[in-house]
Amino acid sequence: MPIFRKSQNTPDGVDPGRLPRHIAIIMDGNGRWAQKRGLPRTAGHAAGAETFRTIANYCKEIGIEYLTVYAFSTENWRRPPEEVGAIMRLLGRYLDEALEDMERNRIRIVFFGDLEPLTPELRALCDRAHSASMRYSEAQANICLNYGGRDEITRAVRALARECAAGERDPESITEADISARLYSAGVPDPDLIIRPSGEIRTSNFLLWQSAYSEYYFTDVLWPDFSKEELNRAIASYQARSRRFGGV
Ligand code: FPP
Repeated sequence: MPIFRKSQNTPDGVDPGRLPRHIAIIMDGNGRWAQKRGLPRTAGHAAGAETFRTIANYCKEIGIEYLTVYAFSTENWRRPPEEVGAIMRLLGRYLDEALEDMERNRIRIVFFGDLEPLTPELRALCDRAHSASMRYSEAQANICLNYGGRDEITRAVRALARECAAGERDPESITEADISARLYSAGVPDPDLIIRPSGEIRTSNFLLWQSAYSEYYFTDVLWPDFSKEELNRAIASYQARSRRFGGV
């Protein structure tokens, strides 16, 4: 007899009682997807933005509380300006639509990263989408924008060093929780499952601190082709593992 009653929205092969609370995704492979079709790389990013919409809504539908996606890293500024511009415009378009569809999607939107170097227009849009979606508590999408794991940890260390220099705390009193509380992800549980499509097998500066005990799922599928079925496979793989967090 099943222990958990299968909810209407639980996909086959997925145990509704052991869903990851937090899934994080490196949305990789947009460029190759476009190249394979003889299209400009920006077409791959546009298709990738569409996949993000589908997967974010699906995560909420099946009961995933937190979804974190790597949209633009601190290193992505090295790309050609046209590509950077196209990714920023896609984000802007997504946020415009998210603001329009907010009541239907009911997803809280949070940004991880330093938004300072963005254009004032995009920054204002990020602020509006964040503020307007704060009232939703069922599902949260964290969009990593101008984000880098090392940069995030460096900022947390600087903040703590400032407190020590001001005599507000003793360096010996600093705990792991103090560092976690100064990351962009403060208050968000660590990701249970991190997915990287496109065949690359590395972390690329993504959630370095938070991923200490995350389970990884790698697939050759390119991000624009990533589907609900592929997400189900990733969750089923996660559920088949034994998480010991350093214990036995
Ligand atoms: C990595 O693929 C992808 C990016 C650096 C950009 C991701 C951005 C989006 C999907 C669009 C906007 C996002 C949202 C949340 C609406 P790549 O270009 O490195 O692919 P490649 O390795 O095949 O070249």
